[in-house]
Amino acid sequence: MLTPEMLKAAFPALGGAEIYSEIDSTNRRALALAKEGAPNLTVVLSDSQSRGRGRAARSFFSPPGTGIYLTLLTRPRCSPEAFPRLTLLAAVAAAEAIESVADLRVGVKWVNDLWIGGRKAVGILTEGGFLPDGTPDYAVIGIGINVGKMHFPPELASIATSVANEAGVAPDRDALTLALLSRLLARLSDFPGGDYLDAYRARSILTGADVEVGRGDETFFARVTGIGDGGELLLRLPSGVSLSLSSGEIIHVTPAAPRGAG
Ligand code: BTN
Repeated sequence: MLTPEMLKAAFPALGGAEIYSEIDSTNRRALALAKEGAPNLTVVLSDSQSRGRGRAARSFFSPPGTGIYLTLLTRPRCSPEAFPRLTLLAAVAAAEAIESVADLRVGVKWVNDLWIGGRKAVGILTEGGFLPDGTPDYAVIGIGINVGKMHFPPELASIATSVANEAGVAPDRDALTLALLSRLLARLSDFPGGDYLDAYRARSILTGADVEVGRGDETFFARVTGIGDGGELLLRLPSGVSLSLSSGEIIHVTPAAPRGAG
C-alpha cells in the first residue's frame, strides 16, 4: 500500500501528499489545501469517496478497493486561456498511464472522459482559483479511474466500464497510481508547452463522428472535425457552417465510419 513517504521519495517534486481510506472528495480536500496555501504539486489520494464530484454537479461513483481517486494541486504559470487545457493534459497522462500497465487502447472523449471499448472508464474534473487580475492561482486536477473488476449501479451499467472489465485482468492499483503521477508531473513540468494537444488529438474518439450536442438549453447535431489549438471541439453543422465549442455536453455519439467504408 502506498504511503505519503513513498510518494515523496518516488517524486521529489511533490510539495506534499495525503492518502485517505475514505474522504468525501479529493477535489474538495485539495481546494481547501489550495486556499490554505499548500505548495505546488500537493497530491491527495483516497481509496474511496463518499461524495466524488463530477462535471455539471454530477457525482462520481467511487466505491472502496477498486478505483484510483487522485487530485493534484498545481499552481500553473499560464494564461487564463491556457488553463482549461490542463484537463486535456491530464487526459493524455491518464491514458498513457493506463496503457503502460494494461494491454488495451484508451481513447479520449472531449473533453474530460477516457473511454475504453466504447464506455467511460475515467473522469477528470479540473477546478481552479484565480487572482484578481484573472491569472490562475491554483488548479486542482481530479482524476477518477475505474481500475478493478466492477459492477456498476443500473444507471451507469450501460455507459461505464473499468480497466479490468475491458482487459480481463486488473492491473496493480499502486503501479497505476505511480505511472499516473509520473506522467502527470512530467507533462505538467512542460505546461503550457509540450505535445499534449497532438497526443490528445491522436486519441480523440469524437473526431469524424456525428454527435448530438447539448449547450445551455439547446441541443443540435453536428459532425466533429477536430480539436482546436485552444482545446475546443471543432464542429460542422448540417448547414455547412463551422462552429467551435469550448463548453458543452456531447449527448450522443454515432461513431465515425471506418476508413474506406461507403
Ligand atoms: C466527470 O466524470 O464528470 C469527472 C469525474 C471526476 C472524478 C474525480 S475522482 C477524484 C477527484 N475527486 C472528485 O471529487 N472528483 C475527481
